[in-house]
Amino acid sequence: MAFDIEMIKSVYAKMAERIDKAREVVGKPLTLSEKILYNHLWEGNPTKAFVRGKDYVDFAPDRIACQDATAQMALLQFMQAGKSKVAVPTTVHCDHLIQAKEGAEADLRNANNVSSEVFNFLESVSNKYGIGFWKPGAGIIHQVVLENYAFPGGMMIGTDSHTVNAGGLGMVAIGVGGADAVDVMAGMAWELKFPKLIGVKLTGKLSGWTAPKDVILKVAEILTVKGGTDAIVEYFGPGATAMSCTGKGTICNMGAEIGATTSTFGYDASMERYLRATDRADVADAANQVKTYLTADDEVYANPEQYFDKVIEINLSELGPLLNGPFTPDLSTEVGTAMNEKAKANDWPLAVEWGLIGSCTNSSYEDLSRAASIAQQALDKGLKMKSELGINPGSEQVRYTADRDGILNVFEKLDAKIFTNACGPCIGQWARYSDPKNAPKNSIVHSFNRNFAKRADGNPNTHAFVASPEITAAIAIAGRLDFNPLKDKLINENGEEVMFEEPTGWELPPKGFEVKDNGYLEPEADGSHVQVTVKEDSERLQLLIPFEPIGSEIKGAKLLIKAFGKCTTDHISMAGPWLRYRGHLDNISNNCLIGAVNAFGKKTNFVKNQLTGEFGGVPDTARAYKAVGVKTIVVGDHNYGEGSSREHAAMEPRHLGVAAVIVKSFARIHETNLKKQGMLGLTFANEADYDVIQEDDTFNFLDLNEFAPGKQLTIEAVHADGSKDVIKVNHTYNQSQIDWYNEGSALNLIKKENAS
Ligand code: F3S
Repeated sequence: MAFDIEMIKSVYAKMAERIDKAREVVGKPLTLSEKILYNHLWEGNPTKAFVRGKDYVDFAPDRIACQDATAQMALLQFMQAGKSKVAVPTTVHCDHLIQAKEGAEADLRNANNVSSEVFNFLESVSNKYGIGFWKPGAGIIHQVVLENYAFPGGMMIGTDSHTVNAGGLGMVAIGVGGADAVDVMAGMAWELKFPKLIGVKLTGKLSGWTAPKDVILKVAEILTVKGGTDAIVEYFGPGATAMSCTGKGTICNMGAEIGATTSTFGYDASMERYLRATDRADVADAANQVKTYLTADDEVYANPEQYFDKVIEINLSELGPLLNGPFTPDLSTEVGTAMNEKAKANDWPLAVEWGLIGSCTNSSYEDLSRAASIAQQALDKGLKMKSELGINPGSEQVRYTADRDGILNVFEKLDAKIFTNACGPCIGQWARYSDPKNAPKNSIVHSFNRNFAKRADGNPNTHAFVASPEITAAIAIAGRLDFNPLKDKLINENGEEVMFEEPTGWELPPKGFEVKDNGYLEPEADGSHVQVTVKEDSERLQLLIPFEPIGSEIKGAKLLIKAFGKCTTDHISMAGPWLRYRGHLDNISNNCLIGAVNAFGKKTNFVKNQLTGEFGGVPDTARAYKAVGVKTIVVGDHNYGEGSSREHAAMEPRHLGVAAVIVKSFARIHETNLKKQGMLGLTFANEADYDVIQEDDTFNFLDLNEFAPGKQLTIEAVHADGSKDVIKVNHTYNQSQIDWYNEGSALNLIKKENAS
């Protein structure tokens, strides 16, 4: 069962009543985004209008998708919930842990050796708990989701920021942390700040060299990397309906690069064509029955300024191909002379060493076919590749079909490397250099989404530019960043001047999609007998042990670290090489708070052990306290825990014996994550009390036995000289979150409720 048509029909069955009711409570016509949000309220029928950008609302998503790097801890946690099956349809996709080096076959074999333990674990957990499993090599999560699971009007969450790609098929699809996914897998609601709405009206029509990628590159230029924060971007207008479904996916995908909560498009003929081409005629038929609910009310798109918080208009007929970068996806330059001038002014290398086509952003059949039309011209016109070319097809279905239709062969004739259907160079899984840190300055062009320093190859000197697949192909063939395929000539092997003609391609394969083994494993109907094995001595995986409740007595707790200034989730739980331990709580805890600056001494990973008087790293010091049964306290500044929703940033301190984190203010998701792990996340009632905390402080909680919603708590900070300060702290725990604390974690509570 690749998708659940009954589930989709049940979503559609609720639409009329709920959306009509929503229109009534909101009191005006609705955007598509609002229709989807109000149709997925946890409480059922809407009873009030929510304030955009302000109200926190509980939702009931239809699906969950997880990738292999983030799924490990999510599933380890889910196993703690005491459930026999996931509560909503869920899939796991093995795509991040495959390094690109030799080419698809060898690289896949290597990944299956290096990460077999993780893949086997994910496969067995998926089989046991009713989760669909996509094997390594099956494809990149978001392309596979678009081909198999996304459906117009649906709501999905996924443990990857580019989950938003499914907006191309009219979903509200949002990237979340593992803890959120676990809640929904376990049958709980999912909370989101009701987003603001940005409308993007697309007039005119794409043509020639301009592709959907250029639309989002333009939007990124207009809105910048922060412009979409807390907002859903809804695209509409004749330019939107004239575009392919996978092209819409590209645009939604890179909504993550402008910080948008997600992006979406209304249901149209291109989506219907895509659904039918990907063997989902029944979904298309069902969607056709509820068409009016799968797009905004007419009045909204007629007068968008009245219904969106912001409106942008782009005329696609006037849009030309763009190159965005380097180092940020919102730095836009038109291909050609403008790039020549900018590159010279900024000392960007004009020679291009690699062109990479693929990633979840641009790896559809249409993308490959348009890029191949340029590659074919190079062959026909006697042009030699001036740089290297790498291709990552988005899925085995795309790869198989493109291979059948001779598309891959065209690239191969140009000596391109066809990598595995996986993320590869998009996530630094690219063995380009033996010593990337000391690798030379160079430029590359790719059709991916992110181009931060080191992202593709670990080399801080690689200047990565983002472009459409067809522009990437043309620039890779020309070998120059400032090549303008619309105007510039190239000299071929015979010394003749030749020019490219406009790219051509197929929205969908003319002979239909085909695949032999798509790499999907359906879970057993009853997985109760399936054994999940994790080796005792594994360094990458560790079964979780439920956290013991911290209890209502916190006395004699020691200060572990008083974090100074910015302390993001990266400072608390670094990424990079630590990604390897994402599934092993004890091992990854060795990075706990090692990036945080200690207010005393202003060094990182250098704190005092009050019991010995010695200084050491944060994890070691925390372990020393824990070993003798002494609880610890972390103190922090403003917006503590900003950044990603990574649950490790809460689980690691919890694992190392931290009882409470007391700060001037929290980033909200991290605060919630602390609550879920059964810890205390508290804020100084008087911010100046941050300055009262000293290096040798011991903390006694005076009234924790009266922990209740809205009630301040009182803590005594005992200083080294015996003097004391009494500190008032606030909290935002509601009663059920206090129950999480009392039980040791949210999962402990779910398990208890499940057993009773
Ligand atoms: Fe993978 Fe890059 Fe997409 S890491 S999921 S291809 S953004």
